[in-house]
Amino acid sequence: MDGVSSDNLGFVECWNEILTPKWIRFRHLLSGNGKIHSDIAYDDFGIREGDRVLDIGCGFGETALEIARMVGPSGEVVGIDCTDAFLDIAEEERDAAGVSNVRYEIGDAQVCDLPEGYFDVAYSRFGVMFFQSAVRALRNANHALKPGGKLCLIVWRSLAENPCWGAAKEIALRHLPPPGENASTCGPGPFSMANEETDRAMLEAAGFPEVELFKRIDADVCIGRTIEEAIDYQILVGPSGEIVREAGEEGQRKLPDVRRDLHALLEPYLRADGVFMPSSTWAIMARKPA
Ligand SMILES: C[S@@+](CC[C@H](N)C(=O)[O-])C[C@H]1O[C@@H](n2cnc3c(N)ncnc32)[C@H](O)[C@@H]1O
Repeated sequence: MDGVSSDNLGFVECWNEILTPKWIRFRHLLSGNGKIHSDIAYDDFGIREGDRVLDIGCGFGETALEIARMVGPSGEVVGIDCTDAFLDIAEEERDAAGVSNVRYEIGDAQVCDLPEGYFDVAYSRFGVMFFQSAVRALRNANHALKPGGKLCLIVWRSLAENPCWGAAKEIALRHLPPPGENASTCGPGPFSMANEETDRAMLEAAGFPEVELFKRIDADVCIGRTIEEAIDYQILVGPSGEIVREAGEEGQRKLPDVRRDLHALLEPYLRADGVFMPSSTWAIMARKPA
């Protein structure tokens, strides 16, 4: 892809080459859980009919389509993402749904060309934490917002506050070493915006001195429709998945031990409709000065 900042190249490669098949396989869990949090946050974000909205790191485009309904035919949504396969799916589903006020662009959110002062809202659910420099991407979004425009983010709180990811990581680390310094990663990582003080400083540095909302959202999320699916999910994605993958052959050798311990961990969380564990995010809203 052209136009990827050099410090982001490895992460963009990781999304396109390593994570894509796993995200497609577990889309119902990843996007389904994102929806639990974004449905709550929409009430506070107050996206209005006629708004022009930028969806940063839009993935499969589910939120772009939801927002398209909120803004109606007089508004529009532009989704930006760096992963070709996600946008192919997003475009196919948009066309199948006959939605005409959404367009997608492939690009690195840090450096892609965005029209100056064009959008009413810059939105990102679980996107910005993966960029090499979230501040750079937020500055780019700031440039694209109208004066007085809103930035709306949903980011994970800390791993300790997210047993849906953290408990399996502890089990993986019982059997395997942490990923080394040269591990292939998808960026600074899902928990890189967990700290409120740091986030406020990042927002200020990116041109959003007024933070209007910093709200904690807690929800149980589904990590598998069955125990077996929940185990597969944890050994293939998230922090535990990264540990198993980066351990290479040793990771494969220790897999039976990891699976056994994950089974014991997850069994108490099994309900009639799947395995549910606690999760926690921040819904953040900040404004570009008018
Ligand atoms: C955790 S997913 C969230 C996807 C979607 N927003 C959702 O909530 O379902 C992070 C997304 O950010 C995208 N991404 C990562 N780095 C990016 C970058 N530098 N520029 C644009 N998109 C990026 C990935 O391809 C992926 O779709």
